Amino acid sequence: MKPKIIITREVFDDVIDYLKQYCEVDDNQADAPYTADALAAKLADRDGVMCALTDRIDAALIARCPQLKAVANIAVGYNNIDVPACSARGIKVTNTPGVLDDSTADLAFALMLSTARRITEVESYIRNSEWTGWRLKQWLGVDVHHATLGIIGMGRIGQAIARRARGFDMKVIYHNRKRVAPEIEQRVNASYASMDDLLAQADFIILQMPYSPETHHLIDAKALAKMKPTAILINSTRGGVVDDKALVAALKNGVIRAAGLDVFEGEPKLDPGFLELKNVVLVPHIGSSTEATRRAMAMTAAKNLVAALTGQKPPNWVNP
Ligand code: GLV
Repeated sequence: MKPKIIITREVFDDVIDYLKQYCEVDDNQADAPYTADALAAKLADRDGVMCALTDRIDAALIARCPQLKAVANIAVGYNNIDVPACSARGIKVTNTPGVLDDSTADLAFALMLSTARRITEVESYIRNSEWTGWRLKQWLGVDVHHATLGIIGMGRIGQAIARRARGFDMKVIYHNRKRVAPEIEQRVNASYASMDDLLAQADFIILQMPYSPETHHLIDAKALAKMKPTAILINSTRGGVVDDKALVAALKNGVIRAAGLDVFEGEPKLDPGFLELKNVVLVPHIGSSTEATRRAMAMTAAKNLVAALTGQKPPNWVNP
């Protein structure tokens, strides 16, 4: 008998076709997110779930799903899943590392360039038909090239960002829970800095560490005050690593120059203060959102799920 699974959100058709070869599939191509109760009801007699970062797979849900054996997240981050609770029940958890590094690094760079050169501000200016002619001191931005980039979180995506920075002749410093191997530092041309040194020295700061209780509000009012008043902050990792209220205040009061944000605390809601500010570029959690990458992520999750439910070792097993 084939294992029974659900897919919680819309995915590409070929991913469903692949899964149907191995599993009995209940999909959600209508893409209406399930409430916690609906998800529990759907999962009550299911062996596996392919889910997204919009689904909370917590201890309460797991307790209501006695059959559940595998949770395949279509994301590299898995802070939406209570991994210890899954492990306690022997439920395999998987994620999708690797396939989204370059797309996410591209988006971090896009945010850095957009904030530095005020792209969204000037675009509105043109669309509002306010442009009457060229002026020497018009819309002055700041240079990305030759600036100092501080990357917090030197995992795969952090390294992909550092590689890009080389093409812009940037000086790259990084902070990570654990200093990375010297070969990696050399390869990506980045030097280790303490958190305080990074905050004080960087012209651009990109956040790329995973979200966890330890990184909750890592960037708070105190950390923002340690940055240069000309600093630009990019959050391309997870809402919650930044205290968004403190960031709104810092942007308003000139504590830092600007911010580029792909993620927000409590998204899709965001602090209304952001909408009143011109020195912030806002995008809706699209870090990995290119067609090729989202396809690769969904197929990676599918392969993880099939492996987990057919007695093989899933390639991206988070809790072996
Ligand atoms: C996206 O945010 C991911 O974690 O893959």
